[in-house]
Amino acid sequence: MRTYLVTGGAGFIGSNYIHYMFKKYDNEIRIINVDKLTYAGNLENLKDIEDRENYTFVKADICDSEAIMKIFDENDIDRVVHFAAESHVDRSIRNPEVFVKTNVLGTLVMLNAAKSAWELPDGTFKPDKKFLHVSTDEVYGSLEEDGGFFYETTPYDPHSPYSASKASSDMLVKSYMDTYKFPANITNCSNNYGPYQFPEKLIPLIINNALQGKKLPVYGDGKNVRDWLYVMDHAKGIDMVQEKGRLFETYNIGGHNEKQNIQIIHIILDTLQEMLPEGDPRKELVSENLITYVEDRKGHDRRYAIAPDKIKEEVGWYPETCFEDGIRLTIQWFFEHEDWMKNVTSGDYQKYYEAMYKTK
Ligand code: NAD
Ligand code: DAU
Repeated sequence: MRTYLVTGGAGFIGSNYIHYMFKKYDNEIRIINVDKLTYAGNLENLKDIEDRENYTFVKADICDSEAIMKIFDENDIDRVVHFAAESHVDRSIRNPEVFVKTNVLGTLVMLNAAKSAWELPDGTFKPDKKFLHVSTDEVYGSLEEDGGFFYETTPYDPHSPYSASKASSDMLVKSYMDTYKFPANITNCSNNYGPYQFPEKLIPLIINNALQGKKLPVYGDGKNVRDWLYVMDHAKGIDMVQEKGRLFETYNIGGHNEKQNIQIIHIILDTLQEMLPEGDPRKELVSENLITYVEDRKGHDRRYAIAPDKIKEEVGWYPETCFEDGIRLTIQWFFEHEDWMKNVTSGDYQKYYEAMYKTK
């Protein structure tokens, strides 16, 4: 049975990936999820799979090389899928240090642990061991409004402390592939949305605020463009790259779905109006009057757009969920998980797990 070590699996994309993998492979695989449970890590996201015999959770910091090495010593790990990171641009502008620690040094710890567990005395690696580093399109910088796409060959030009830290981590992975022939891939993905996304990010923030009649903050002129991908399509892409992609290669993953932020907000408001039943008191709260233009994000990248040609040609992946369907699935999920949102916004989910880990 193949054993996966997933880092950051209690976060947004990591937890969706774990759900995707168990749905696809069921009992054919084993997953060990290592997560520090920062503010963004929430074990509620994995409640329905936590009792599986082929799933283990380890609370640890990826910067703690002893804890990570112990996992490799005690388990024959076949695949590493490395999600763990500080992921929010606005937080990186306020506090860059933790981004460098987790995203850069944490990645180095993961690389060293896997290398030391997988390397043979002659400097080659045990067969069929693979490391996938999950990265972002933000490393490529910003595109002009009127054209161009990010390709795997686009030079790196990160602007925020977040994207600079992710670019550094990508470079470390590249250096291990070039120097040691370390068996890895890098994926650079565009903006994800879907279930379990923390409501500091644009889409869940707008859904949550609109339903409560709170202001909808739009940075700058609202015309910055992002390329939105439904999270389950990303999960599928990661698995396909790891199983069908060429080792040592980078693959861009994107939604072919560019939208201005203000367009996203209007789509959410319209879809909420459409989906809320007559008589639901929230229907009266959801209104365009909530849209509030606020000061722009510092160094705000204007446009991101991925050309996912290579992953389509080599691996056969393409975005399956159109935005119209994906946003309805997302809103429906938030309707059905009001408690999740309440626990996250009140911080209760953290109090519960802090107490649980103290008693262990
Ligand atoms: P997230 O913030 O929702 O989750 C991050 C997870 O990592 C959390 O569970 C957190 O507890 C954990 N973590 C943070 N620091 C840790 C540490 N030191 N040790 C162990 N665990 C730690 O992030 P996300 O949006 O799910 O993003 C996951 C990955 O995908 C990141 O590497 C991010 O750069 C990348 N990515 C995200 C997007 C997006 O749109 N969200 C797009 C492309 C790439
Ligand atoms: O492109 C991939 C990246 O997408 C990932 O690497 C990051 O981890 C992820 O956080 C995301 O980064 P963004 O900065 O693009 O996402 P965010 O949801 O923070 O913002 C999306 C856009 O919306 C951006 O142009 C800023 C704007 N925005 C955001 C918030 C939170 C607003 O106008 N108002 C807001 O309140």
